Amino acid sequence: MNINISSHSSKRKSLSYYLVAFKEIIRFRAYLRILSLFEKLRDQMRGTDTESMIEMGELGFSKETGHRYEATPTFHLRQILKALNLQPTDVVLDIGSGKGRVLLEASRFNIQRVVGIELSGQLNSICRHNFSAKSLSLKCNQLELIEGNAGTSKIPDDVSVMFYFNPLLLPDFLATIQRALESIQRNPRKIRFAFYNLKYFDDLKSIDHLHLIKILEWKNFGLYRSRCHIYELT
Ligand SMILES: C[S@@+](CC[C@H](N)C(=O)[O-])C[C@H]1O[C@@H](n2cnc3c(N)ncnc32)[C@H](O)[C@@H]1O
Repeated sequence: MNINISSHSSKRKSLSYYLVAFKEIIRFRAYLRILSLFEKLRDQMRGTDTESMIEMGELGFSKETGHRYEATPTFHLRQILKALNLQPTDVVLDIGSGKGRVLLEASRFNIQRVVGIELSGQLNSICRHNFSAKSLSLKCNQLELIEGNAGTSKIPDDVSVMFYFNPLLLPDFLATIQRALESIQRNPRKIRFAFYNLKYFDDLKSIDHLHLIKILEWKNFGLYRSRCHIYELT
């Protein structure tokens, strides 16, 4: 009897193992490649360069300084920006802005300005070049790029939205929130945070005055889930 139960459960276990493995193959070999092709096509049509994956080593930095360049999928990004209900007074800061896809998409809205903090000067110059593409019809043309470690950079005192797609390791990540709090003390206001595929969810629970206000979720054809957590800091 016991033998039957264990063989049945191991059969079930192996079935679910193969299903997960199959989904992972479809995800990486097909779905993400097709998505990337669409992103490259969009880039080509706009005269921009945002779609690529670049390891920190290739940019001349160690893995301990942060996470590689990889852009937020445009489709998700547009839904996140729409959910933020951006207003003309908003200033959007992308932590680890890379080649500037987030900044470009945010600039399609009528907002005050966009700011990027990025470690790599090489990526910052691609970002600047992207903003000069002729075919873009941006409603906001105020761009500020800060080159440096986001964990030690000051948050400008007019920033109202901060976007993250996992640029930093935990200590630097928490330091940016501390700097946002310092900025609020200098200039009292609300700051909204949009965390795309947040890794450090549990570490945010103990931060006072930080409230989760919305979660966006995408099922990606049942292959894997992507999420964006929107918080408000007061
Ligand atoms: C996952 S990419 C996100 C790019 C962009 N925000 C987007 O969503 O399309 C992470 C970016 O953070 C940058 N980065 C990594 N560590 C950093 C640090 N300590 N300070 C500032 N930027 C950093 C990387 O160079 C890379 O461009």
